[in-house]
Amino acid sequence: MIFVTRKSTFSASHRLYNPTYSDAKNQAVFDKCNNPNGHGHNYTLEVTVKGLPDPETGYVIDLKLLKDILDREIIDKVDHKHLNYDVDFLRGIIPTVENLCVKFWEALKHALPQGELHNVRLFESDQNFADYYGAPVTIPVYAVAQNGELVGETL
Ligand code: NI
Repeated sequence: MIFVTRKSTFSASHRLYNPTYSDAKNQAVFDKCNNPNGHGHNYTLEVTVKGLPDPETGYVIDLKLLKDILDREIIDKVDHKHLNYDVDFLRGIIPTVENLCVKFWEALKHALPQGELHNVRLFESDQNFADYYGAPVTIPVYAVAQNGELVGETL
């Protein structure tokens, strides 16, 4: 088995809060990431696809094609956006680096024409990142008010 990886970057803002918490608890749990008007990160996304090299091309998947898929399914939708408000496929979630990995995996899992999705790794900073390998996980999805804020009930 061969593993090939494409790295892409994007910049986006977010705010971490749980709508079932009080303001004080949100501040205590999420600290700087709870800033009411959000804050930004320069993210690095690494997506790994596994498979055997095609005998004719030598490719597990053409990495140019993988780049185009990442752009279409993820980067074009999140770059220079506010992840809490602007991105349809992220609506209702708390946009931690962990939860973003899960949603990015879901966005990619049926989009690959060759190879098999192996890992989604997302860096939120040089120091902090998460890995997701596709094991089943349920993340809470909250109802969203008209102004885009999460409200305190899961769907
Ligand atoms: Ni943050």
